Amino acid sequence: MPFATPFADRLNNVETSAIRELFKLLGKPGIISFAGGFPDSALFDVDGIREAVNTALSEEAGGALQYGATEGYQPLREQLAAFMVSKGNQGVSPNDLIVTTGSQQALDLLGKTLVSPGDKVIVEGPTFLATIQCFRLYGAELVTAPVDGDGVQTDALERLIVEHKPKFIYLIPTFGNPSGAMLSLERRKRVLELAVQHKVLIVEDDPYGDLYFGDAPPPSLLALSAQVPGSRDHLVHCGSLSKVLSPGLRVGWMVAPSELLAKATMCKQFSDAHTSTFAQATAAQYLKAGRMPDTLAKVRAVYAERAAAMGDALRSGLGEAIEFVQPQGGLFVWARLTGAGGKVADGGELAKRAIGQGVAFVPGAPFYASRPDHATLRLSFATVDVDRIREGVARLAKAI
Ligand SMILES: Cc1ncc(COP(=O)(O)O)c(C=O)c1O
Repeated sequence: MPFATPFADRLNNVETSAIRELFKLLGKPGIISFAGGFPDSALFDVDGIREAVNTALSEEAGGALQYGATEGYQPLREQLAAFMVSKGNQGVSPNDLIVTTGSQQALDLLGKTLVSPGDKVIVEGPTFLATIQCFRLYGAELVTAPVDGDGVQTDALERLIVEHKPKFIYLIPTFGNPSGAMLSLERRKRVLELAVQHKVLIVEDDPYGDLYFGDAPPPSLLALSAQVPGSRDHLVHCGSLSKVLSPGLRVGWMVAPSELLAKATMCKQFSDAHTSTFAQATAAQYLKAGRMPDTLAKVRAVYAERAAAMGDALRSGLGEAIEFVQPQGGLFVWARLTGAGGKVADGGELAKRAIGQGVAFVPGAPFYASRPDHATLRLSFATVDVDRIREGVARLAKAI
């Protein structure tokens, strides 16, 4: 018998993602998958995490296993604030942040606390799919700002702010998912100036900023806010340990003005009461043990090698049929099919053909809140070793 109770109206605004449908095909044996958005499990610092768990249980079992404060486990808030400061975000103190269950929960709390049905929210085109779904669930009308190799185009962004008067602007300035783009220093400053000038809130989602391959990226918007008077009052920064340490820990955090943190904390109380104290105490001990710099160096080196291998293989194997900016960090190559030489120019079409050849990736269209570019695709190099990357791209070349 079909389920008889009608679902909430808000579910009419969202649909299951096209990407999930594609993932069902990935079980096929022998498939090389560039489709995931995961870090490589082989890189998890299992010994370090085991040690952190043991220390947490021997030194603070009460705190690690008991209910905890909604704002987060205080020793972890202290460690996260110190981590932020060590990355150049001067002046972040433990009380400036709350711990969230992954940065995904921070996004959900922003939707819950800020979005009323019909409110406009500006996002990048393309942007993180789960954000599109999450903000739409709260009734947001998403407005797409164009992105190029230097991140969001600030002139266009200003025009959209004036036209739509958005509730907030959601950006992934550093190695965005899926675009891999890095917002230039000049544009970062401009974004902060726009925030002050138009009194509009900026949400900086930054789960990938630590995964750089060469030089460090420009400072985060949060770090730069010290140079743009008044901008900190219009800024939220979301961080996460998922891509650098372990997504299974579900430890994220949000730095925001105090009034917003208070409302978000209230909403979090109604949803999960607090992020797992066990995970928080583990993360706190891990950070306290000082292992993070080595862990970051290790993951950066592995992903840099894989990104380079994928870039080289795509250039030599697909030539003019594809264009992309070589990523300088993160987990993804974001590419565009040119159709040159009569080759396939539709990402969805190529994704189907590619499965037939034993390689998977995600077409780019679902990452747009509006006006999708169907020629785009996202390829993750993160979980595939260099030889398999070359083999996967060779299969892709056969499919195109
Ligand atoms: C841009 C972006 N934001 C947020 C998240 C959520 O990460 P988590 O909830 O694991 O911190 C992801 C995960 O893929 C992401 O790509």
